[in-house]
Amino acid sequence: MAPQQIPALNQLFYGDNLAVLRDHIADQSVDLIYLDPPFNSRQDYNVLFAEKDGARSASQITAFKDTWEWNEESSLAYEQVVEAGGRVAEAMRAFRTLLGGTDMLAYLAMMAPRLVELRRVLKESGSIYLHCDPTASHYLKLLMDGVFGARCFKNELIWKRTTAKNDYIQGATNWGRIHDVILYYTKSDTQEFHQPFAPLDESYIQSHYKLRDAQGRAYQLDNLTAPGAGMRGHPTYEFLGVTRYWRYNKEKMQKLYEEGRIIQPRPGAVPRYLRYLDEMKGTAIGDTWTDIFPINSQAQERLGYPTQKPEALLERIIKASSNEGDVVLDPFCGCGTTIQVAQRLNRRWIGIDITHLAIGLIKTRLDDAYGPAIRSTYEVIGEPTDVAGAAQLAEENKYQFQYWALGLCGARPTEGIKKGADRGIDGRLYFHDDLTGDSKQIIFSVKGGHNIGVSEVRDLIGVLQRERAEIGVYISFEEPTKPMLREAAEAGFYTSPGSSGAEGGKYPRIQLLTIRDLLEGTKSVQRPLLHARDTTFRKAPPSRPPPPPHPPPHLQDAY
Ligand SMILES: C[S@@+](CC[C@H](N)C(=O)[O-])C[C@H]1O[C@@H](n2cnc3c(N)ncnc32)[C@H](O)[C@@H]1O
Repeated sequence: MAPQQIPALNQLFYGDNLAVLRDHIADQSVDLIYLDPPFNSRQDYNVLFAEKDGARSASQITAFKDTWEWNEESSLAYEQVVEAGGRVAEAMRAFRTLLGGTDMLAYLAMMAPRLVELRRVLKESGSIYLHCDPTASHYLKLLMDGVFGARCFKNELIWKRTTAKNDYIQGATNWGRIHDVILYYTKSDTQEFHQPFAPLDESYIQSHYKLRDAQGRAYQLDNLTAPGAGMRGHPTYEFLGVTRYWRYNKEKMQKLYEEGRIIQPRPGAVPRYLRYLDEMKGTAIGDTWTDIFPINSQAQERLGYPTQKPEALLERIIKASSNEGDVVLDPFCGCGTTIQVAQRLNRRWIGIDITHLAIGLIKTRLDDAYGPAIRSTYEVIGEPTDVAGAAQLAEENKYQFQYWALGLCGARPTEGIKKGADRGIDGRLYFHDDLTGDSKQIIFSVKGGHNIGVSEVRDLIGVLQRERAEIGVYISFEEPTKPMLREAAEAGFYTSPGSSGAEGGKYPRIQLLTIRDLLEGTKSVQRPLLHARDTTFRKAPPSRPPPPPHPPPHLQDAY
């Protein structure tokens, strides 16, 4: 793609980020990249769902399998990177010598071409933050040096993500592993950087700002002499009868003196700078971040996605390394923390993820935070848009199809995907429609195949009874047959006591929907309104109203 082609809308891609980057993202079109790739931990990433009582469910579902292991695919990726030559190839060959044909090499071989693409799409003034685990961060740093050049390394940020207490086990023989590493690189030396500040420590204020001026403003008298006795090129001259190496040149010193900002406590004493507390920005935040807390089970923003990062972390990165209207890309976007924060901070965004679970969750997260109007400000690419596409997805991957179909209804998969584990339930939604606090549920059954019949409606009724659920939704490709419709009608209605939902607060207990209905919006799930705490995945807290459609009018010319 030609450089600088920036699409009008924000973009959410379903697919492998390597292919998406190569096929859809233009050269030098992105200002900031944050990536949090799954680590080669040899573990599946499991999604735990909030059960009715809010406790963690024993039921788990594989959100995505970490398949980055040394096999034919990764060895092919390795060969391609090496054949492309350059510093990256040299780094990979060195890794091969060091690591042999291991999963760590596979991880690096899969990351290498993605990092090369990410560098291509980054603007010259762009920045990239690679979030990783200390087990792999030192290899990734060498790889990043290979791709971006060692000169473009800016920081190794340490994020204290938990407390030592949480990692400690009886008899441990190592220090608690309580931090993640975030590697910060730029493409050149022209990057945006807005230094963030933390509030000054109360004890520091108490000890350093004891003085008050006539208006009662707190101040301190600060040092004006230069550190390093001139070694760092500071000027030396006489000022108010005192000769020193000074922080500022003579003109600036004179100006400050005339403004009353330089005070000589007594004749002959070293002049001091009058620094007001209310003019202080705070303490410049360095490369060690201990003030951003992980998502815990009680966190308001917690959605139940296993590797969800806190919004505060992304807020710090996005504010420091981009401006309003800039394009932020997250190629491993998970449940969309980067997207949510970029949206809130009036950045434009591109998200990519390889599971429909993540894509569905992000759509719901944005709806919850900004209302349905947000949908017109972004496009989803790679999802089925018609029945044929949905059928193809169902054929390729039954579970991805289920995630996608459930996502169309705002529902989430709830049970393990092991054969037989779902016991007739593919997804759930919880709601609360009275003042008792009792959780009510809607159970979903998704049929990817084409042989449907009345027995499946009967099965769903059985599941409803067994689970004491209020409503059952059956989603299929085929139109329901007459016997199915009759059986569903005979199941009657659920009457919601306090809902302001559909007519009379009555909802069919069994609802039969087709993929076409959902895609075309001709029918949807009839249910009482969901409250903030009711969904299977927790809802994102509402954010402020959505910004104007992208690009914001005042920035339109820039695109
Ligand atoms: C560690 S999670 C990211 C979590 C995210 N930072 C958040 O706050 O929710 C990694 C994500 O990368 C996705 N992923 C893994 N391989 C991918 C690939 N090749 N292309 C796109 N996404 C991928 C996974 O589906 C998963 O959602």
